Amino acid sequence: GLPTRVRIHEVGPRDGLQNEKAVVPTEVKAEFVRRLAAAGLGTVEATSFVHPKWVPQLADAEDLFPRVRDLPVRLPVLVPNERGLDRALALGARHIAVFASATESFAKANLNRTVDEALAMFEPVVTRAMEQGVSVRGYLSMCFGDPWEGAVPVEQVVRVTKALADMGCDELSLGDTIGVATPGHVAALLRGLNEAGVPASRLAVHFHDTYGQALSNTLAALRHGVTTVDASAGGLGGCPYAKSATGNLATEDLVWMLDGLGIETGVDLAALTATSGWMADQLGRPSPSRTVRALSHK
Ligand code: HMG
Ligand code: MG
Repeated sequence: GLPTRVRIHEVGPRDGLQNEKAVVPTEVKAEFVRRLAAAGLGTVEATSFVHPKWVPQLADAEDLFPRVRDLPVRLPVLVPNERGLDRALALGARHIAVFASATESFAKANLNRTVDEALAMFEPVVTRAMEQGVSVRGYLSMCFGDPWEGAVPVEQVVRVTKALADMGCDELSLGDTIGVATPGHVAALLRGLNEAGVPASRLAVHFHDTYGQALSNTLAALRHGVTTVDASAGGLGGCPYAKSATGNLATEDLVWMLDGLGIETGVDLAALTATSGWMADQLGRPSPSRTVRALSHK
């Protein structure tokens, strides 16, 4: 069966913008977050407290976060280490996310660590966050395929997901970073995780639409009990390691499908589409989302 309600974890302001070359003004980012919240998204990932040289676009996190922190929605922020946690807590963040990799190649490229060194880096972050009542999401990248290593075995993903779960992460988000997953692979991973004691109720899925499979994969995940889905307004975002990659699953495409299935999200599709149209104007190019395009031409 399918769920009656899905929680959308909006990642546009973070995952969507992090690879944009031209730096978006802080006030535009803040307005983007406000508009997304006003469109009914209850979770809007706002920014990252990472090293500014690694992600220059989000180097304004200290300036941005106070502009949006009083909004009545959850505003998770990415935190790779204790330095990042200190920065986030100093500004009153109540929801953080650490981000691991299922593969050694991406752990090295994204965190300058081996998989296990990265897990060791997260451990004190998760412990300290939990002590403060701050919720922790654990992202896992390259859960299906990796640009250097090819197909990623289910057991390898299960091992790292379980490590994050055992560490105390409230929620684990399974990332198809380069968008190569197909529905059978999604089902196999969810079955493997369930057998290893990580139920779908603790999971979120994070699909990229490179090969046009993101919605099919989402539907497969919903049929296996997942009720939290990551998406990016207007389909913003790409992956620096897959040049041809389109962005994340567009939130509008997701809402169109869920609305059609009668699954509640609380999102106002017209307000959301208007927001992505506005953001596309700011970035100077049209949204890749089919739904945004279709609704904008009505
Ligand atoms: P490193 O170079 O190994 O860092 O980078 P280090 O620990 O050796 O520290 C070096 C210097 O950086 C020190 O300064 C630290 O204080 C400073 P120094 O003493 O030399 O003056 N530093 C920091 N400064 C500010 N904030 C911090 C911080 N940490 C250290 N938090 C590090 C390691 C993890 C920091 C780096 O690799 C990094 O920032 N990586 C972030 C990469 C990133 O944000 N990637 C995108 C997000 S993941 C993603 O998009 C995937 C996802 O969407 C899911 C999917 O689709 O798969 C989530
Ligand atoms: Mg992503």
